[in-house]
Amino acid sequence: MKVFDILLSIACLVAQVAASHLNLHRFGKLQNAQAHSIRRNTTSGDVPGTQGLNFTIDGQADYFAGTNSYWIGYLTNNSDVDLALDHLHASGLRILRIWGFSDVNSKPTDGKVYFQLLQNGNATINTGSDGLQRLDHVVGAAERRGIKLIINFVNNWSDFGGINAYTTAFGGTSTSWYTSPTIQDVYRKYIKAVVSRYSQSPAIFAWELANEPRCNGCNTSVIYNWAASTSAYIKSLDSKHMVAIGDEGFGLDIGSDGSYPFTYAEGLDFAKNLAIDTIDFGTFHLYPSTWGVSNSFGNGWITAHAKACAAAQKPCLMEEYGVDTDKCTIESQWQQTVLGTKGIGADLFWQYGDKLSTGNTPNDDFTIYRGTDDYKCLVTDHVANK
Ligand SMILES: *[C@@H]1O[C@H](CO)[C@@H](O)[C@H](O)[C@H]1NC(C)=O
Ligand SMILES: *[C@@H]1O[C@H](CO)[C@@H](O)[C@H](O)[C@H]1NC(C)=O
Ligand SMILES: *[C@@H]1O[C@H](CO)[C@@H](O)[C@H](O)[C@H]1NC(C)=O
Ligand SMILES: *[C@@H]1O[C@H](CO)[C@@H](O)[C@H](O)[C@H]1NC(C)=O
Ligand SMILES: *[C@@H]1O[C@H](CO)[C@@H](O)[C@H](O)[C@H]1NC(C)=O
Ligand SMILES: *[C@@H]1O[C@H](CO)[C@@H](O)[C@H](O)[C@H]1NC(C)=O
Repeated sequence: MKVFDILLSIACLVAQVAASHLNLHRFGKLQNAQAHSIRRNTTSGDVPGTQGLNFTIDGQADYFAGTNSYWIGYLTNNSDVDLALDHLHASGLRILRIWGFSDVNSKPTDGKVYFQLLQNGNATINTGSDGLQRLDHVVGAAERRGIKLIINFVNNWSDFGGINAYTTAFGGTSTSWYTSPTIQDVYRKYIKAVVSRYSQSPAIFAWELANEPRCNGCNTSVIYNWAASTSAYIKSLDSKHMVAIGDEGFGLDIGSDGSYPFTYAEGLDFAKNLAIDTIDFGTFHLYPSTWGVSNSFGNGWITAHAKACAAAQKPCLMEEYGVDTDKCTIESQWQQTVLGTKGIGADLFWQYGDKLSTGNTPNDDFTIYRGTDDYKCLVTDHVANK
């Protein structure tokens, strides 16, 4: 997630939304026809997959609870990684979504972990001990504990580089990023490096195209075409593992209350994108406080996506959700809705918090720290009730 940028973009959006909503609305409907093809089950052996509207892990269909940790691949102490994953495992959290990217425009001088250097039109992947070897340890540690990872390839936001790091090195804008042949070639080379490194690992749950991709004011065909071609490319490298987009779930007719997240203004059409054959499940996020809607918006947002997923015959993953106050009261209602609604196969709260050798892991106000009352409410009780 990225709080401040979301707030800013809401302000810029309001005018455009009114103008563009009707046309894009119709466009979304036309494309939904593609969703009606019969969905094959992807379950095979030990590789995580789907079965109807459920996910499967180790060949078993179930509802899965999990979480996010953007920081775990950037830790430099292996024992800290192991400790965090021991705790996750003991909590019954099965899926962990992590950042598989860390793009920089100049080589850090302070020993900071980075995975790719993008500088003056050149891209260099860092496979060293301050590079992808850090991710190697996370993947190995997850394997040893039966934790399944969602690995994400680029950030829409500037945290840890993101789209901005690409455009700084290669030119263009945050919206032209999706269609620039030069940039997409660099992005694919990075995807290939990561996918080929871990495609044989039993720890992989799914590959993910981006964290919260948006293309503000764009025709929804921009992200649709990018998601279709990139996911097909990933399947050509690794046909066994699932692929998802990692978007916030914006742009949906079904269940729309007309509020900003349901509109197509960020260039996203949830149902149309979900119909892409090489996309295995739907992703959506839930942050009422940063989207300018009330917390009560959450239940309708969940059921709307569940309906779209049921129609597409692919499970939905509620892959990020959070509030900064009153976490137990508000988020437990969403968890109940998710468990009671056909179409949602798993949820990952944002974000996991722990105490490691360096102290508490990052607190962005949405963090739920192990050992707190909120953790008991939203992790221990949720895992027991699911
Ligand atoms: C979006 O692009 C498609 C072609 O890719 C076009 O048919 C459609 O009219 C465009 N929609 C809008 C609202 O411009
Ligand atoms: C997929 O799995 C579900 C649940 O086990 C089953 O109902 C459905 O018939 C399967 N679909 C196919 C195409 O095999
Ligand atoms: C999904 O899993 C639940 C139990 O977790 C089960 O009741 C349901 O039948 C499963 N659905 C499919 C389509 O496999
Ligand atoms: C990087 O780009 C510069 C031009 O900006 C070029 O002179 C240099 O040879 C490139 N380095 C590599 C390793 O490709
Ligand atoms: C992320 O997406 C939004 C909406 O398109 C855009 O305004 C913003 O610039 C993007 N972030 C970056 C770092 O490009
Ligand atoms: C590494 O992490 C472990 C476990 O948290 C801790 O006991 C140890 O002191 C740390 N090592 C260093 C050098 O900080």
